[in-house]
Amino acid sequence: MNTLTWIKHHILDYISILVRLIIASYNKVVTSQITVAYLGEPNMSQNYAMKPQAPTPIFKIINEARERLGKTKYKIMVLSGKGGVGKTFISSMLSLALAERGYRVAIFDADIHGSSIPTVLGLENARHYAGPYGIEPVPGPLGVKVVAINMMLDTPDTPIVWRGPLKSRAITELLAKVNWGENDFLIIDLPPGTGDEAITIVQTISDLDGAIVVTAPSILSEVIVAKAINFIIKNNTRLLGIVENMSYFKCPKCGSTYQLLGKSTGEDLAKKYNTRLLAKIPLDPYIGEALDKKKPYLVEYPEGEAAKALRGLADRIVELLASDKNSN
Ligand SMILES: Nc1ncnc2c1ncn2[C@@H]1O[C@H](COP(=O)(O)OP(=O)(O)OP(=O)(O)O)[C@@H](O)[C@H]1O
Ligand SMILES: [Mg+2]
Repeated sequence: MNTLTWIKHHILDYISILVRLIIASYNKVVTSQITVAYLGEPNMSQNYAMKPQAPTPIFKIINEARERLGKTKYKIMVLSGKGGVGKTFISSMLSLALAERGYRVAIFDADIHGSSIPTVLGLENARHYAGPYGIEPVPGPLGVKVVAINMMLDTPDTPIVWRGPLKSRAITELLAKVNWGENDFLIIDLPPGTGDEAITIVQTISDLDGAIVVTAPSILSEVIVAKAINFIIKNNTRLLGIVENMSYFKCPKCGSTYQLLGKSTGEDLAKKYNTRLLAKIPLDPYIGEALDKKKPYLVEYPEGEAAKALRGLADRIVELLASDKNSN
């Protein structure tokens, strides 16, 4: 067989090898791009054919967050040095009490590891979705817009195992990517203490209108809560006042009140830090019942003892912020 005949016989083999080589090299490029897809960066995980990009600098994300929150009138964070004093309960019920009064309210769950705002508001199985203008808040009871990283996980019990810097970035990115729209109030629920989450919030939202510190009766709370107050003062954030939760129990039969957790300390703390005691919220067994029913307490038991006190708290905050605006 001469050379020409040999090539003719094998031409189909050559073409097939060439096509396979092209496909293989294309697959390699696509696979490498999938590997570098960076969670949280726009378009990277959606469009695998894009070229990898460097992460967006944090200052740009902070600016975006500030811009997105530009149409929210009052931004308030709720914190305490102490765990379990009712920060989440107070912030979620305060948001409902404000919504009852016709205000447009959004709530942000900044407690990455112990997220419980969705549960308290009866939204445990709700999930965020991304719309054309960003991540959409989940519509909660009374139209409150709810945002929580937990509502982006596959299941609510998936643990988040992030260290400080990643947590801070996630909080800032979420604030920057949510389509907040126009609101009268943004309430921010923080985890206990004055760590990464609290620092990230005060740094990202530089125009915070104030902070509410939650305490409960007992000497132990008093000392730890003082740390939160000092954190606020050092960061030049305005301390709106103190809320003493679980303050007393009022017997529904005889009307007598009992200080079940110990002596009230809210007044003394307020005096010491030259601020005000915004409200005393009583212990109310219906709060636990509402949780068991997966319903928000304020809506489920509107006549409850704590519900009345929470509405008083909402009125006090509105009054306080309005008087500031008038005096400016
Ligand atoms: N006034 C109250 N009366 C009865 N139960 C209450 C009251 N306030 C809060 N609770 C209950 O106490 C528990 C702790 O409240 P919550 O989760 O709001 O505290 P927290 O300060 O946010 O806790 P963490 O520090 O873990 O974030 C919850 O089960 C809540 O339902
Ligand atoms: Mg909490």
